[in-house]
Amino acid sequence: MANSEILYPRTGDRQTIYLKNAITDAGITVGDYTMYNDFVNDPTGFEKNNVLYHYPINHDKLVIGKFCSIACGAKFLFNSANHTMDSLSTYPFPLFFDEWELEKTNITEAWDNKGDIIVHNDVWIGYEAVILAGVTIGDGAIIGTRAVVTKDVPPYTVVGGVPAKPIRKRFHDKTITELLKLKWWDWSEEKISQNMKAIQSGNIERMRGI
Ligand SMILES: CC(C)(COP(=O)(O)OP(=O)(O)OC[C@H]1O[C@@H](n2cnc3c(N)ncnc32)[C@H](O)[C@@H]1OP(=O)(O)O)[C@@H](O)C(=O)NCCC(=O)NCCS
Repeated sequence: MANSEILYPRTGDRQTIYLKNAITDAGITVGDYTMYNDFVNDPTGFEKNNVLYHYPINHDKLVIGKFCSIACGAKFLFNSANHTMDSLSTYPFPLFFDEWELEKTNITEAWDNKGDIIVHNDVWIGYEAVILAGVTIGDGAIIGTRAVVTKDVPPYTVVGGVPAKPIRKRFHDKTITELLKLKWWDWSEEKISQNMKAIQSGNIERMRGI
């Protein structure tokens, strides 16, 4: 039976990890079996290399569901990257509080807060895609290579480009509704294993027959 508690699930492969086992930051949550592959950097450096501008003072969260596939170089860009645009200047004066004799506690005024990044289950994020703060990606969605995701992505929708736009739905609405009801990713490992062929088949009829 598969074991989501191990770091390197593929024998002899140190580029692919079950991501949750490399997470130390309390602001990041990753579900079982979600995988990250990195052939440029050490994949266990995900928090440093891929979750950017994510400062504890902001308390923003990255939540990733189960069974997601995250390709090399995908990045999550958090709120501290967004220099405030309400100010008459985008220069981050609050960061240089000593220099300008400002209150250290007001440092977060340097940027606009767009919110957490939520990635639901069974999402495939392509090579070097960038997900911006405040975005929610629905179950079963696909993010194309080098997309810049600025808006929420509905479940089972393929998006691509800069800014990312829907390319197509993966299935008919009826099938999507059924998949969202089934939530196979919440099944026990044993049940998933028993139904592997049905899951892989691309045929919802076979899932109904379980
Ligand atoms: C997004 C993706 C899944 C689309 O696959 P698809 O549905 O088979 O799409 P198609 O190749 O039929 O292309 C459909 C349209 O989307 C466009 N498109 C495809 N991928 C795109 C991308 N990454 N960015 C922008 N547009 C893209 C195509 O140009 C085409 O446009 P058109 O309708 O104007 O001609 C695929 O192109 C992709 O980016 N895969 C990610 C691969 C990857 O990063 N793997 C990492 C290892 S896990």
